[in-house]
Amino acid sequence: MSTSTSASQPATSSKTATLKLPGEEIELPIITGTEDEQAIDIQALRDQSGFITLDPGYSNTGACESKITFIDGEKGILRYRGYDIEDLAAKSTFVETALLLMYGELPAGETVTRFREKLTDQQLLHENMRNHFEGFPPHGHPMAMLSAMINACGCYHPELLDPDMDDQSLFHAAAILMSKVCTIAAFAYKMTSGQRVEYPDPSLSYCRNFLHMMFSKPHRRYEPTPQVVKALSRFLILHADHEQNCSTSTVRMVGSSRANVFASVSAGVCALWGPLHGGANMAVIEMLEQIHKGGESPKTIVEKVKQKKFRLMGFGHRVYKNFDPRAKILEQTARDLLATKSEPDPLLDIAHELAEIALTDDYFLQRKLYPNVDFYSGIILRAIGIPVSMFTVMFSIGRIPGWIAHWYELYHDPQRRICRPRQIYTGPRRREFVPVDERRTAAPKVC
Ligand code: CMC
Repeated sequence: MSTSTSASQPATSSKTATLKLPGEEIELPIITGTEDEQAIDIQALRDQSGFITLDPGYSNTGACESKITFIDGEKGILRYRGYDIEDLAAKSTFVETALLLMYGELPAGETVTRFREKLTDQQLLHENMRNHFEGFPPHGHPMAMLSAMINACGCYHPELLDPDMDDQSLFHAAAILMSKVCTIAAFAYKMTSGQRVEYPDPSLSYCRNFLHMMFSKPHRRYEPTPQVVKALSRFLILHADHEQNCSTSTVRMVGSSRANVFASVSAGVCALWGPLHGGANMAVIEMLEQIHKGGESPKTIVEKVKQKKFRLMGFGHRVYKNFDPRAKILEQTARDLLATKSEPDPLLDIAHELAEIALTDDYFLQRKLYPNVDFYSGIILRAIGIPVSMFTVMFSIGRIPGWIAHWYELYHDPQRRICRPRQIYTGPRRREFVPVDERRTAAPKVC
C-alpha cells in the first residue's frame, strides 16, 4: 500500500492511499485526527473490491472517531478531553473528571455541586435490590455481583431504558450508575465477608462515603486519613477512561445494538474481569505475595517469563510502548501513601526489584514491555485496606464515567451502525449430511 498527498485540500480529505489488489488499484481516503494520527478509511473497500481486512485483536483497526481520550503510546501521553492526565490527577477530583469525560468540558462549580447532590440522592439501593444480594452464594465473586446488579438497576429505572437520551437524562443515568456502583460494591464486600452492610452517609463526599461503606463497622466508624482519600480519588481518576480498550469496546459493541446504558455498562464489567485487562491488578498482588512468602525470587520469575512459562502481570500494554503515564503517577502515589503508614509494605520493594530486573533485560526491552497501571495500583489498594478480591471492582468504579461517555458518544455519532465485524471462514467446504448409522469417521469424544 502506498500513500499520496495533495497539500491544497483540508487535512481530513487531502490524502488518499492507493491499495494495489490483483488486477486493480483502489483509492482510499486518509483520515487525520486532531493529533495527526492517520487512518485509511476502508468503509467502501468491500463494496469496491470484494475484499475485507483481517486484524485479529484489532491492533491496526480504528472502530470509531472519538473526542474523549487521546493516547500517544510511544510518548507515554494520556489526555482526557485534551487535559493531561498528570494535571487531572494532581488538580481535579473524580467527580469533576467524570463530568469532563461525559460532557467534554471542565464543569462550572455549580454543575459539580448539582451533580454531587444527585450522586447523594442516588446512594441508596431499592430495598428489593438489596435483597438480590441474599441470592448470591456466600463466596460469589464480587465482579459477578457487580455486573448482575448494574444490569438489574435498569429494572428500577424503566425511564432510562430508552437509549434516546439527552444531556439531562444522561446526568440522571450517570448519577445513578456512579453512585449505586459504590453501594453495590461495598454491599458485595460486606456480604461476602459475613459483615453487616453499612448504609451510605449523605453527609460524606464520593470517596469518603465509599470508604465508610467499606470499612465502618457497627461499633466503630471508619475515618480515613486525607492521604487515603487522595490516593483513592487519584486511583479513580487514572482509571476513568482509556479509549478503545477491551471493556470500552465491549460497551460500544453492546450499545451499538441500541441496548440501554445499564446493560452496556454491565457488559463492560464482564469484559474488564479478565486477567489480561482489569483482572491484572489482582494477579499482580497475588504474584508479589507469592514472592514475598518465599515462593520464588524476582530473578526466577523473570527467567520463567522469558521461557514463556507465564506472563509478568502488570507488564506490557497494547498501546504504551515506552511507559504508561498512569503507572508513573501511581508509583509515586503508592510511595506517598506508604510513607504515612507506620509499617512499610514489603511488596513495594519486591515490585521495584522485579521492575528493575525486567527493565534492564533484553527480553523486555526488545518487546517494549514496561510496568502498566496495574503494576502499582494493587499496592495502593492494599494500603487502603481493600481486599484483593475487590481490586477489579475498584477498577470498574473508576471506569464507569468512561464507559458512559463512550456509550453516549456512540449514540450521538451520525456514523453509528451496529457493530458487526466480518470473518474469513476456514472451516470445511460444503459436505453431504451422513445419517448417524452410516458414519465411519470417529466423532469427537466429549465424555
Ligand atoms: N510478560 C511477558 N511477556 C509478555 C507480556 C508480559 N506481561 N506481555 C507481552 N509479552 C510478550 C508476548 O509473549 C509476546 O512475545 P513474543 O513476541 O515473543 O511472542 C510479545 O510480548 C507481544 O505480546 P502480545 O501478547 O502480542 O501483546 P498484546 O498487545 O496482545 O497484549 C497485554 C497486551 C496487556 C494483554 C499483555 O502485555 C499482557 O498480557 N500483559 C499482562 C497482563 C496485564 O498486565 N494486563 C493489564 C493491561 S493495563 C490495564 C488495561 O488497560 O487493561
